[in-house]
Amino acid sequence: MKISVIGTGYVGLVTGTCLAETGNEVICVDIDKEKVKKMRNGEVPIYEPHLDVLFERNIKAGRLRFTTSLEEGLNHGEIIFLALPTPEDEDGSADLSYVLGVAEDIGRLMNDYKVIVDKSTVPVGTAEKVNEVISKNAKCDFDVVSNPEFLREGFAVDDFLKPERIVVGSTSERAIELMKKLYKPYVRSGNPIIIMDEKSAELTKYAANSFLATKITFMNEIANYCEKVGADVSKVRIGMGTDSRIGKRFLFPGIGYGGSCFPKDVKALHKSGKDDNYDFKILESVIDVNATQKLALLPKIKNHFKDNLKGKTFAMWGLAFKPETDDIREAPALDIINELLNEGAKIKAFDPEAMNNVARKCGDKIEFSKTMYDALQGTDALIICTEWSIFRTPDFDKIKNNLTDNVIFDGRNLYDLEDIKKENLSYYSIGREAII
Ligand code: UGA
Repeated sequence: MKISVIGTGYVGLVTGTCLAETGNEVICVDIDKEKVKKMRNGEVPIYEPHLDVLFERNIKAGRLRFTTSLEEGLNHGEIIFLALPTPEDEDGSADLSYVLGVAEDIGRLMNDYKVIVDKSTVPVGTAEKVNEVISKNAKCDFDVVSNPEFLREGFAVDDFLKPERIVVGSTSERAIELMKKLYKPYVRSGNPIIIMDEKSAELTKYAANSFLATKITFMNEIANYCEKVGADVSKVRIGMGTDSRIGKRFLFPGIGYGGSCFPKDVKALHKSGKDDNYDFKILESVIDVNATQKLALLPKIKNHFKDNLKGKTFAMWGLAFKPETDDIREAPALDIINELLNEGAKIKAFDPEAMNNVARKCGDKIEFSKTMYDALQGTDALIICTEWSIFRTPDFDKIKNNLTDNVIFDGRNLYDLEDIKKENLSYYSIGREAII
């Protein structure tokens, strides 16, 4: 099939590349000339495991092309994906100006029937708005479909090629048939394509992300309470998670959720509720608890160093908001760095992928190291902010030989307490006994 994807951000690029992988002819459109030039030369603008291989293969095969011309994109595709940013407005709502701006252009430029697919996470009622905006200038038939994406950063290619489910929001038989045909190769294992109306599809995305953020936040509160009463959250987690109604996943406590999706989507759903006279009390609490949780290590650090961090140097392992990504949006590490710098401390950081992004943001306020062990040299303590696999089985002797105060503050509960006890280290984690 002929497909166009407007917007080559994270979602657009993965969507375009993975749609080409099953033989579709895909054109990706972006207004950023430099980016388009680089992609034409085979350069992948983001870090996402396996994307580079698919990207190269499909460009070589001529199935994946890039342009800055919306008109070229529109002439090409019978299905047009909108994968445009919906950033957070000052009041927490999703800013739709990019989506509606492009919809206006589509209305003017479209010459034959198209299915316009909203892939971006957009508030309930957006498909209706897009429909209205396109209708103003449209000279031909079209349908607007809501098709939210559920990709996780770090697993996006796998999630796209083998989705647990595909949600298609449409009331047009013609559009539904085309969407089913497009997605057929991706649901060979029998996973469902769930058809519903546009508004329900739009809300499904916000509800799913907000539910997961709530699940994590609930566990973070249980973890905080475990510390008060001397219980161990890793045991509570297993005890709870084996109930199939609860499930094992997304119960890992830590220093809060981050990234480009959960924080933005929880706030946007909360704000949409307010606009529609519905007060999502639970989401308000989730937002508040998460903001505090991102700094959950701070009181432990301050307490350990008797409120005097001036002149102390901290090694920091992990900067990205989660492993397998270079994304630092809403990353807890950034909040911790700010607080520590304000207290007069210094930081030596290591992250396998995210150091360039942090360097752009923090400049020379912190030092970066080539390896996780280099980051330890001349430091007093180690702080762990991201659970990269490489940090899971470290050489504890190297840690002890470098830190002047043998202490680890672990925001991701990477180590078994029993193992740590053998190492003669002080160790603070989340929701578990502190080893001092
Ligand atoms: C999330 C959803 O999982 C995707 O389904 C969705 O498509 C995507 O948002 C989106 O809206 O585009 P992502 O932001 O890539 O994906 O990351 P997740 O793996 O879901 O993690 C989100 C945050 O929750 C991270 O900060 C992670 O550290 C935290 N988390 C996750 C926990 O603190 N504990 C857990 O048990 C799981």
